[in-house]
Amino acid sequence: MPRVAILGAGIGAQHMDGYRALPGRWHLAVVCDLDADKAEAVATQAPGCGVTSDLDEIVADPEIDVIDICLPPHLHAPVAIAALEAGKHVICEKPLAGSVHDADRMAAAARDAGRMLVPVFQYRYGRGLYQLGELQRRGLTGRPLVATLETHWNRGADYYAVPWRGRWRSEGGGAVLGHAIHAHDLIARFVGPVTEVTAMVDTRVNPIETEDCAALAMRCESGVLVTSSVTLGGARDTSRLRFVFERLTAESGRNPYAPGADDWAFEARAPLDQSTLDGALAEAGAAIDARPVGYAGQFAAIADHLDGRLADMVSAGEGVRSIEFVAAVYKSARAGQTVRLPLDRADPICRDWTPQPPKGD
Ligand SMILES: NC(=O)c1ccc[n+]([C@@H]2O[C@H](COP(=O)([O-])OP(=O)(O)OC[C@H]3O[C@@H](n4cnc5c(N)ncnc54)[C@H](O)[C@@H]3O)[C@@H](O)[C@H]2O)c1
Repeated sequence: MPRVAILGAGIGAQHMDGYRALPGRWHLAVVCDLDADKAEAVATQAPGCGVTSDLDEIVADPEIDVIDICLPPHLHAPVAIAALEAGKHVICEKPLAGSVHDADRMAAAARDAGRMLVPVFQYRYGRGLYQLGELQRRGLTGRPLVATLETHWNRGADYYAVPWRGRWRSEGGGAVLGHAIHAHDLIARFVGPVTEVTAMVDTRVNPIETEDCAALAMRCESGVLVTSSVTLGGARDTSRLRFVFERLTAESGRNPYAPGADDWAFEARAPLDQSTLDGALAEAGAAIDARPVGYAGQFAAIADHLDGRLADMVSAGEGVRSIEFVAAVYKSARAGQTVRLPLDRADPICRDWTPQPPKGD
């Protein structure tokens, strides 16, 4: 069983729940947090799991196989690279990095070390999205035509009381980087990758440095046209996705943090008839219902992969691409132009997308 260390006991608590939902697959070795009480509260969930506040101790520990990074974003790249160079596999919370340059360095460190770097995108692992994947696999959807996404969440002063949030230097970006990244990953997964984006971003909800609203238009390699609306000023948290394919339309409910957990509506369009579509879903139903979801779904895939089995993984390259997309959004919004992907690595936006203060400030 792979021995995993969870670094950071905020969302790390939900990672612990994910591992514990998979008995016999993971050995929970240690939880690390500067706040000993938080670390202890998470570690007690798994019998025998230790606690530390020393990141370096974990990176150097030969007993640890996998380091699961749930730290604030500015620590992702340095900690991941140190862990990979020490021969650990790395699972890393979103956003993978705060620049394309850092994301590239992380992927290169994984390649050089022959270790896996897995970006966390747990939204992919949910029943409705398993159903959509199955319909695609069976060739029932036809070509994707358009998709719409809404990430309309509610964040206020209490959320931004955590000092790393809302600042370029520690959070690295706003709602496009931190919140809508999940919905955009689902585009990449089901109809992507994105090859062109035209973006408008603004700060309209909270007194923060980074953006909290966005309107994006994109084109994917498959030709599909996508629109994404993002705000942190929603009356309540809702996420909504709609994928229009030639032969069916797939629509989520409004579950904000696990859109795959909703009951999705799948509507056939001629020449596909609804009974064929419903029949395919019924046939696949038992296997889909048996699959773990959310963090447990992603951690089950990683455990399968480590066991040498074919698994529904998120690749390091997809993580890099998710960061490159954010860089393209900022570039487009600032220039008022459409930006094409992949980005030229010589473009300064790849090294640092932090807005530069006007000269003289
Ligand atoms: N996938 C998701 O749906 C999801 C949801 C929430 C957060 N996240 C991501 O997870 C990451 C963490 O977010 P969070 O909300 O849990 O933040 P948080 O601030 O609640 O938790 C981070 C923890 O890291 C600890 N920490 C900071 N520096 C440390 C160090 N040097 N050594 C040891 N511990 C240290 C802090 O004490 C804190 O407990 C972020 O990148 C965030 O974007 C992802």
